[in-house]
Amino acid sequence: MSTEGETGGAVELTKGVYWVGAIDWNGRDFHGFTTPGGTTYNSYLVVGEKTALIDTVKVPFAGEMLRRISQIIDPSKLDYIVVNHMEPDHSGSLAELKKQTNAKILITKRGVDILNGYFRDASSEKWDFETVQTGDQLDLGSKTLIFLEAPMLHWPDSMETFLKEDRILFSNDGFGQHIATSKRYDFEVGDVMPEAAEYYANILMPFHMPLLSYFRVLEELEIEPLQIAPSHGIIWKQDLKKILEAYRAWANGEVKEKVLVIYDTMWGSTEIMANEIAETVLAEGVEVKLLNLRKNTRSHIMKEMLDAAVFAVGSPTLNNGLFPTVGDFLIYLKGLRPQKKKALAFGSYGWGGGAVKIVEQELKNAGVEVLEPGLQVKYRPYEKELEGCRKLGEQLAAAAKEQ
Ligand code: FEO
Repeated sequence: MSTEGETGGAVELTKGVYWVGAIDWNGRDFHGFTTPGGTTYNSYLVVGEKTALIDTVKVPFAGEMLRRISQIIDPSKLDYIVVNHMEPDHSGSLAELKKQTNAKILITKRGVDILNGYFRDASSEKWDFETVQTGDQLDLGSKTLIFLEAPMLHWPDSMETFLKEDRILFSNDGFGQHIATSKRYDFEVGDVMPEAAEYYANILMPFHMPLLSYFRVLEELEIEPLQIAPSHGIIWKQDLKKILEAYRAWANGEVKEKVLVIYDTMWGSTEIMANEIAETVLAEGVEVKLLNLRKNTRSHIMKEMLDAAVFAVGSPTLNNGLFPTVGDFLIYLKGLRPQKKKALAFGSYGWGGGAVKIVEQELKNAGVEVLEPGLQVKYRPYEKELEGCRKLGEQLAAAAKEQ
């Protein structure tokens, strides 16, 4: 019988390989990433002559995972726990699991430091563990696991695990998507590329260099998966080639002729400017998206940012500074460090002004090439100021066409 919110049992993916994770139907926020469709924490159980659990789940879901494991084996008989990543959405249930099993933990050296930080009361000294590194193998008897360090995808300790015989790559955060679904495969749910793009933009965007290195290591180890099983969302099988190509394009910072006009407004003036700029970009034959910061989540805006060549940020001046939503967005943007972007600033003010200059400085701090000067309009834009907005729109469209 299911407990509240728990849907379905363990799922056999192929002989001896099971999904035993948890579905977070009501998860709506992942450290600042808005997840309107929930998410999953995927754990996988590999059964050869010996058994290994690959990753655990976020702590409130430990019981759900343990019940699914129990449908296949007695958890106390588990031989190994592979900790691909110590972030609590994957390692949170370790303590609960370790109460039931003496399974040896396999983890990267960097992971051990983090484990000792999160589980000081349990500590790795009391838990049987062994560090593994790229290329190490574990023979479970008829199933062989190969470990592959993937530092910064998403934390320094991140690792992936390849099941050699079935050619399944357990990719942890890599290739994930935040979707809650009772289905396990891409071909069962339709196109999830938009969710994969939003996940990449909000989680992995700053790590394009480690990602390019990771692809080189995959080639060196001749790892050619038939399935990629991340720790969030669905497993890639039908669209495997598509997601690999998309990741290479995103890591290389490939963009298209697309402009974003991102703004907030106090008394409507900055919005009038945003509309005029967007209208002009469109008239120049370039795709445009108009994104009000109080109507769109920053996670959604970052997804749109992924393949946009150019963007504009509009802020009214409030108390000599930025409008709060614009400040929030610029801080988030700086953390995600988008590559190969150009941008300009605009906004309205009453007396002192100043927001446009701050936006320009923050864009530079985020590593964005700033097209100066931006445009600052006093009180309300009329025809002369609207002409200035049209010029910005032309400038944005031209920059998008240049890339
Ligand atoms: Fe899904 Fe970096 O945790």
